[in-house]
Amino acid sequence: MQFAAIPLNLLGDKTSADYLNTGMWSKKAIAEAKRYCDVNLAADTSDNGFTTVPTQAELKLNPDAAYVHYVANETIGGVEFDYIPETGDVPLIADMSSTILSRPVDVSKFAMIYAGAQKNIGPAGLCIVIIREDLLGKAAAQTPTLLNYETHATNGSMYNTPPTYSWYMAGLVFEWIKERGGLKAMGEINGRKAAKLYAAIDDSDFYANPVTKANRSWMNVPFTLADADLDAAFLEGAAEQGLITLKGHRSVGGMRASIYNAMPEEGVDALVAYMQAFERTQG
Ligand SMILES: Cc1ncc(COP(=O)(O)O)c(C=O)c1O
Repeated sequence: MQFAAIPLNLLGDKTSADYLNTGMWSKKAIAEAKRYCDVNLAADTSDNGFTTVPTQAELKLNPDAAYVHYVANETIGGVEFDYIPETGDVPLIADMSSTILSRPVDVSKFAMIYAGAQKNIGPAGLCIVIIREDLLGKAAAQTPTLLNYETHATNGSMYNTPPTYSWYMAGLVFEWIKERGGLKAMGEINGRKAAKLYAAIDDSDFYANPVTKANRSWMNVPFTLADADLDAAFLEGAAEQGLITLKGHRSVGGMRASIYNAMPEEGVDALVAYMQAFERTQG
């Protein structure tokens, strides 16, 4: 819904928007935007199988674009931007669904940040939009009332009945994060979790992750086994130890460990220990 709401709300009198294509979610955002405007692919890493993000110098930005859209963390590919793109006066929009609240972020650099709740915020059914106030009020005439950001901004996000349970739970999650020391503390824990898991992958000849080191996701860690025939045995043994939902996304195969805020460091330690034991006995 946001993929459509963005062009509807933010094109104004412009006809073109810049999109960075770094994976599956970028592609979906682009396909939807194409229904409303010309999409300029300011970067496209499909050639390298979405294993890097483009550098700032590689971005082919159109100074007349209505906005620049990118996906800060590609959930399926496990590829994450290690910098915030500089777009001058052109509003910068980020889909942060799978990285928001994983560490501090400089919100002032963005015109809009949006994120589905179901990773680091709370239960599904809620999407958070943070938008600069000067961007409100220029939605296209055909924009459905409920897709118009101004509707939500001027009605305390309660123009319609909000998903009250998800909203309440999100509040509890925010309190939980604050009690643990806020995003700075979350960032320290998450940085350690990711470092441990990638180290286990890199230190072994049996496990592999194709993503350039600087662009590896802190939240979603895809990895493959040297012999895909062992995937089923790996998953079965893992489940026996309570390590579940490790099967990779159907489009990429292999494994994917999603280590969102709710996953404690001990969970990553347990996965690393299991991976090492599996390699010793079956690798
Ligand atoms: C980066 C990103 N964007 C968008 C979505 C879509 O979210 P939803 O399934 O809530 O529409 C997801 C879902 O996994 C995602 O990871």
